[in-house]
Amino acid sequence: MVLRVGVVGGGQLARMMIAPAVELGVQLRVLAEEQGMSAALAATSVGDYRDAATVLAFAREVDVITFDHEHVPQDVLAALVDAGVAVRPGPAALGIAQDKLVMRARLSELGMPQPDWAAVRGTAELQAFLDAHEGRAVVKTPRGGYDGKGVRVVRAATEADDWFAALAEDARGGALLAEELVDFSRELAQQVARRPSGEVRVYPVVETVQRDGVCAEVIAPAPHAADRLRDVAAEVGIAIAEGLEVTGMLAVELFETTDERVLVNELAMRPHNSGHWTQDGAVTSQFEQHLRAVLDLPLGDTAPSAPWSVMVNILGGPAEDGLDARFAAAMAAHPTAKIHTYGKSPRPGRKVGHINVAGDHLDDIAYVARAAASHFSD
Ligand SMILES: Nc1ncnc2c1ncn2[C@@H]1O[C@H](COP(=O)(O)OP(=O)(O)O)[C@@H](O)[C@H]1O
Ligand SMILES: [Mg+2]
Repeated sequence: MVLRVGVVGGGQLARMMIAPAVELGVQLRVLAEEQGMSAALAATSVGDYRDAATVLAFAREVDVITFDHEHVPQDVLAALVDAGVAVRPGPAALGIAQDKLVMRARLSELGMPQPDWAAVRGTAELQAFLDAHEGRAVVKTPRGGYDGKGVRVVRAATEADDWFAALAEDARGGALLAEELVDFSRELAQQVARRPSGEVRVYPVVETVQRDGVCAEVIAPAPHAADRLRDVAAEVGIAIAEGLEVTGMLAVELFETTDERVLVNELAMRPHNSGHWTQDGAVTSQFEQHLRAVLDLPLGDTAPSAPWSVMVNILGGPAEDGLDARFAAAMAAHPTAKIHTYGKSPRPGRKVGHINVAGDHLDDIAYVARAAASHFSD
């Protein structure tokens, strides 16, 4: 019998599940927001993921529902569960990834290391937080942020006035998240896979480099990571996956502080940009692993298949011309580079693909990955 996975959301993460689905003999169906999205290569229907009837009709055609993004509303998720649909990750876990305030509160309950934080309902509360944190804070909108949109370093409480005003207009009301501005030496990410029957596997912790709030590069495994750092990151990842009963892939974004602590930044309950290196640098890619996990099949080996991997994102540049000529030039110049594309039209700053290079020498592969990516940035 052919197993069928339904992915809500038609972006590049759904797209990158297609190849492993074909290899595993899993039928992949996608509920896309509109025609012609990244995942249109799979069997795709188009519909509104906020509409319970639409998602229920989609779910009837598959054995399990999973996600390309975290935005499916809780009432829609509840309708799926009530109808007996297998939803992975489940509504409770997803609810934590949907709202950074809920996430901070749950991580506190689990005793996870994280930055000082507070829910702030207005300028006075933000000022009190600033006063307690040397006049600096990171303010975040709890919902809907990505790639640094919805994250702001502030030194005066008035710098969040526009966000407080927007909250006041929102019928649900609510608060902003204020966090201590962490003095980190670098950012890390821990990938964990967990299946409903409980099996858990961790990937090696990786280093991520953000530019302008957007992930630019990932190095796997994280260079100069002592055993202790690797163990702490893995323990935190497993504790979160188990504590929140995550099913599928979990990415835990981490800060490594200058005093050698590890703090949790945020969570994603799906394949994540920080795990794209696994496509060409690990025994089992995060996309194959996600399919195995949501189908409750045995998980694959997470070991790296080469000593080092580097992933560099390709962002849409100022040039509107087609990417095709650039792909050909990058391929010709760097035959060891694995070039992944998302079928998106290039807009400035938009992630349109990435490059993976794996090999024995970190300096060499980092050079090749960056050089190949540079074909797209000028
Ligand atoms: N408390 C913090 N202290 C210092 N830098 C932070 C903090 N929170 C976020 N950042 C920086 O902002 C980036 C984006 O924040 P994040 O919460 O991960 O938002 P997004 O959902 O946009 O990825 C992080 O990768 C990090 O570089
Ligand atoms: Mg982030």
